[in-house]
Amino acid sequence: MALHVTVPELLRMKRDGRRIVAVTAYDFTFARLFDQAGVDVLLVGDSLGMVIQGQETTLPVTLDQMIYHTSAVVRGSSNALVVCDMPFGVCHGPPSVVMDAAVRVFKESGCHAVKLEGGERMVETIRFLTKHHIPVLAHVGLTPQSVHAFGGFKVQGRGELEASRVMEDALAVAEAGAFAVILEGIPTPLAAAITKNLEVPTIGIGAGPECDGQVLVSYDLLGLFEGIRPRFVKHYLEGGQGVRDAVSRFALEVRTGIFPGPEHGFDS
Ligand code: KIV
Repeated sequence: MALHVTVPELLRMKRDGRRIVAVTAYDFTFARLFDQAGVDVLLVGDSLGMVIQGQETTLPVTLDQMIYHTSAVVRGSSNALVVCDMPFGVCHGPPSVVMDAAVRVFKESGCHAVKLEGGERMVETIRFLTKHHIPVLAHVGLTPQSVHAFGGFKVQGRGELEASRVMEDALAVAEAGAFAVILEGIPTPLAAAITKNLEVPTIGIGAGPECDGQVLVSYDLLGLFEGIRPRFVKHYLEGGQGVRDAVSRFALEVRTGIFPGPEHGFDS
């Protein structure tokens, strides 16, 4: 078995002050490239509903789809810790039902951990899973599966009352056994305070620079997804334009008879 980044290694990274690098991945080819680039965590996010399937939210994504994408990512990864997001609806049942789903995810995809959205309401489930040695990455703040309850993809934890709610959520999931907590879409000072209060690492997205690590949706990072562009996204590549240019050149060369050339054919 190849040596992967492990859950204890992520905890050591926090203690040593080494930042955790996470990106989302949904298929073998990108997973292999991201793994070769040296990321620590490959998150198979249910954001695939939006960037792969073209849905407006993550809600339609199913467990079978998550398992399908996660197994491809696992095959592409030889170093990173691979985490599968539990899709909307799966974690609403009793802990033993969530456990059955997590066991399926582990057996059928070969990943190393699952991610669950939600704070205090997920405590019982996180406790149950971690007790049975299923490592759980928690996710609080702007949890996209709650988009309708929040009235949109809105920053959470603004104002004293809301900030203490998000703080309580983060403390509760860490206490229940989560090995790390994703902080999404919350004010920078709140994320800094949570990071200081938790022994386990925080991984931020739209939560400022003080978290123990950062995660981005890879299709945002690469400039491939041209739908919503939140303020916290940085493009490290203009991939969308690059792809359009490459395919336009291919189309032009096919239409003008330049491609395929003699070197692309076979002798008799
Ligand atoms: O689904 C996802 O990709 C996520 C990350 C943005 C944290 O939950």
